[in-house]
Amino acid sequence: PTKMTVDTFTALKSERKIVCLTAYSAPMASILDSHCDLLLVGDSVAMVLYGMDSTQGADIPMMIRHAQAVMRGTKQALVVVDLPAGSYETSPEQALTTATQIMQESGADAIKLEGGASLKPHIKLLVENGIPVMGHIGLLPQKASSASMYRITGKTADEAALLHADMIALVNVGVFGIVMEGIIEPVAKDIAVACSVPTIGIGASTACDGQILVTDDMVGLFDKFIPTFVRQFGQLNPAITESVSAYRAAVIDGSFPGNEHLFWPKSEK
Ligand code: KIV
Ligand code: NA
Repeated sequence: PTKMTVDTFTALKSERKIVCLTAYSAPMASILDSHCDLLLVGDSVAMVLYGMDSTQGADIPMMIRHAQAVMRGTKQALVVVDLPAGSYETSPEQALTTATQIMQESGADAIKLEGGASLKPHIKLLVENGIPVMGHIGLLPQKASSASMYRITGKTADEAALLHADMIALVNVGVFGIVMEGIIEPVAKDIAVACSVPTIGIGASTACDGQILVTDDMVGLFDKFIPTFVRQFGQLNPAITESVSAYRAAVIDGSFPGNEHLFWPKSEK
């Protein structure tokens, strides 16, 4: 298996649809790796693994820890790490310091940050310093303090025009791909069709070059709320519930552990 690079990733745009999922841990990364072109260490980790109300609780050490874990489980996929809220917006220099630290300490392939035209100078500085950057436009979870504040974007002509301008701005400063989240059709379709770098949709258009979901949503593990854009391709939550209730029953009735799970002196085997 050959390792995905930014160049082989962007070349997929003209070949086939691009498959992306989130990953936060080594074991999950190693399951997903051969099936995905890109694994995103998303700041959604704050909500999905830590039970926080928003992605704003993610910080630099959290992202580095999980990126390191995902790198240990990944041989093929391109690994992209979210810059957490508050770690890059203040200035291009802040963005460079954070991105450099996360890239160096995790060994990941690229970073992603949320926002459009206002981040042009930030992204430009990162790209000039050799850091591959993925953009993220539309619904920006870092700007909302809870999932109930998520709002689908592009509903007015003004908003649609701004989203289009965001896409152009990101492409002009050299992002290698753009996540498009929660954008109303056909605005999402128009932006995806017009974009020269790979577009990865989540609650956006089938016209996007690829799709991404939060793995825990997709496998039916995280079901605190199920966004419209999620399809549960699996139902792990009931499977885990079944296992744990069987374990409970076996501990209480004494059938676990069995002799085969215990350590016996040779003479008593
Ligand atoms: O953090 C995340 O999981 C994301 C994806 C949903 C695109 O940014
Ligand atoms: Na994110």
